[in-house]
Amino acid sequence: MIGIIGAMEDEVETLKADMEIEEVITKASMTFCKGRLEGQEVVIVRSGIGKVNAGICAQILVDCFHVDRLINTGIAGSLDVRIDIGDIVISTDALHHDMDATEFGDPRGQVPRMDVLSFPADMELVQKAVQANETANPDIHTFTGRVASGDQFVASAEVKQQIVEDFHPLCVEMEGAGIAQAAYLNKISYVIIRAISDKADNSAVMDYPAFEKKAISHSVRLVKELMKLL
Ligand code: ADE
Repeated sequence: MIGIIGAMEDEVETLKADMEIEEVITKASMTFCKGRLEGQEVVIVRSGIGKVNAGICAQILVDCFHVDRLINTGIAGSLDVRIDIGDIVISTDALHHDMDATEFGDPRGQVPRMDVLSFPADMELVQKAVQANETANPDIHTFTGRVASGDQFVASAEVKQQIVEDFHPLCVEMEGAGIAQAAYLNKISYVIIRAISDKADNSAVMDYPAFEKKAISHSVRLVKELMKLL
């Protein structure tokens, strides 16, 4: 069983419209739609925004729906000059850029008493997502690399620069590491698929809704194509 998590309604509504829904269950104020998408057994859910919502959502998918693979789809801010609005980032690993227990000697970003700084994605899912994107969005550039997550929308050059210096990620968003950590603790696989909606500084704020819409359509197309390869 595959769990597909999007933070916002726009991100999941198109996928839900294309699935055959068998069951709808509400838990923790989240609506879990179970059924089939492109022949795969899936549960699609909107987690809400932020890492806490994402972690809660992922754990419900594990406990109540017995998912063994988690896919997080949505949008992100680019942290790399090569990566433009509309491009796709597929995670190799994810971490919390806002976790800071450096006072106690832990590396910045590392959850104290956990044995890893970042949570590795499943390389088979990564490769299949790359392959799916070649069919779904042949003209769109795809990058694989680290995703940084935090409970803040990054819209300042200084904050962006600090995250880049500390962690060298490709993009920043607000849920991925919560889902990655849940996958790590439950020993299941995950991948984060993000389309770039902005540059994580104040350069494109006025066009954000238009870019967001375009970016969402890219990640949705990719996820549907990915279902055919799993
Ligand atoms: N999601 C999309 N763009 C983002 C940004 N700049 N910061 C955090 N989350 C985002």
